[in-house]
Amino acid sequence: MSNLQKVVTIDGPSGVGKSTISRRVAANLSFTYLDTGAMYRAVALHLKETAVDLDDEASLRTSLDTLSLKLLPAAGESDDVGVILNGRDVSQDIRSPEMSMLASKVSALSPVREKLTHMQQEIGREGNIVAEGRDTGTVVFPLASWKFYLDADPKERMRRRAEQLREKGEQVDEGELLQMIIKRDHDDQARTIAPLCKAEDALLVDTGMLTINEVTEVLLRVIKEKNSALSG
Ligand code: DC
Repeated sequence: MSNLQKVVTIDGPSGVGKSTISRRVAANLSFTYLDTGAMYRAVALHLKETAVDLDDEASLRTSLDTLSLKLLPAAGESDDVGVILNGRDVSQDIRSPEMSMLASKVSALSPVREKLTHMQQEIGREGNIVAEGRDTGTVVFPLASWKFYLDADPKERMRRRAEQLREKGEQVDEGELLQMIIKRDHDDQARTIAPLCKAEDALLVDTGMLTINEVTEVLLRVIKEKNSALSG
C-alpha cells in the first residue's frame, strides 16, 4: 500500500455526527478509535485547573510537560472514550459546554498543538486507527489511506446536539446553542495553526440529509472499495 498509513481520518465541525460514526467505522474494521477532541478537552481542563497564564509560553510548556493523559476505550457503542488526566478520571468533566469552548480556545496555541499532534502520531504509528477531529487528515495523518470530511448546516447540527443534551436530561436554549456552534466553527476555522478545513484528498460527505447509519455505510463502502483497489 505504498507509503500510505492504514489510518482513516474523519474531520469536520462539531455536531456532524463524527463521534458516533467514527466509533461505528472503527468497530466494523476492528480499528482503534482515536478521539483527538477528547485530548484537547483534557488539556483545556488541565490548564484551567492549574490556572496557567495562556500568554506565558514558558509556563504553558512547563505545564504541558508534566501532563499525563490516557485514553480508555469507550464502554459501549454510544459512550464517549474514557479520559484519565494525571491519574484522575475526567471523562464526564471534559464534556461540558464550558470545556467545549475552552478546548477550542487552547487548541489555537502552538505548544498545545505540538504536544497533542505528536501524541496522536505516536498512537497511530502502527496504523489500524480511526482518527476523529479537526486536522487529522490535514496535519496529524497526511498519509492516511482514507480521509473524510463531514459537514452539515449549523441549524441541523444544533438540533442534533440539543436532542443529545435533552436525552441526558439537560435544559437547552436553542438560540444560545446555535451561537456557540457558530462561534466554535469560526474559531476552529480561523486559527492560524492547523485550522479546521477539508484535506484536498478527503471525501466531503454532507450528513444533514442522511442518518448516522447511512453515513456509516457510505464511509465503509468507500473504505472497502479503495482498500481492494489498493491491494488488488
Ligand atoms: O471534537 P470536539 O468537540 O471534542 O473538540 C473540542 C475542540 O478541540 C474543538 O472545538 C477544537 C479542538 N480540536 C482541534 O483543534 N483539533 C482536533 N483534531 C480536535 C479538536
